[in-house]
Amino acid sequence: MQTGLLHLHNLLRWIILILLVLSIYKSYIGMSSKKPFEASDKKTWLFTMIAGHITLLLGLYQWLLGRYGLLSYVKAEDTAGANIDSAYLRFFQMEHPISMILAIVLITLGHGMAKKNVDDAVKYKKAFRYFLLALVLIIVAVPWPYRVLVGRPLFPGM
Ligand code: HEM
Ligand code: HEM
Repeated sequence: MQTGLLHLHNLLRWIILILLVLSIYKSYIGMSSKKPFEASDKKTWLFTMIAGHITLLLGLYQWLLGRYGLLSYVKAEDTAGANIDSAYLRFFQMEHPISMILAIVLITLGHGMAKKNVDDAVKYKKAFRYFLLALVLIIVAVPWPYRVLVGRPLFPGM
């Protein structure tokens, strides 16, 4: 089950990235063309946030109870990984989770602009900034396959 959940966590990355790029594009268009805020913008932002929250939930599970989970991983008992690099553990136990939690908070704040009682231009502008910052954080903190030490496959089980 743990592997299945990790595969889901891996796959959701693509859903988040696609929806986030779409949210950024739509808020940029709204911001630059000064058009009124639309229901379709709100929906895109909501789906982006839901994808973020589901990934967060799956990530929290991996973080606490996964193979390298803070509560489940005991270095001395892990014979296969006894020589595991501390930079590797630091990435999956600290850098990745903390950056991603921050990114998901930013996505939630971006979506929250849809409900704020402010001018549409302000909604678009602030949401654009939150989403863009979240995208940068995610791109930096994903274990892309080319990354030394922490690289992981682009798709589950590859
Ligand atoms: C540990 C897991 C989660 C945490 C800490 C969390 C946290 C939050 C927070 C703080 C909000 C309020 C955001 C706001 O007011 O703008 C929220 C709203 C929401 N979350 Fe999550 N969430 C989690 C998991 C999930 C999951 C698994 C789903 C979907 C399957 C989900 C779907 C939603 C939806 C639909 C909303 C309401 C959006 C709206 O304003 O209409 N969340 N969540
Ligand atoms: C935008 C959000 C996120 C994205 C795009 C993302 C992406 C990924 C990817 C691609 C992997 C590698 C999966 C594989 O090996 O097949 C991974 C692993 C992992 N993620 Fe995330 N993640 C996100 C959020 C989080 C959060 C919020 C947490 C913790 C709270 C978390 C904890 C972990 C852990 C612990 C692993 C390693 C699990 C293992 O190897 O056993 N992730 N993540």
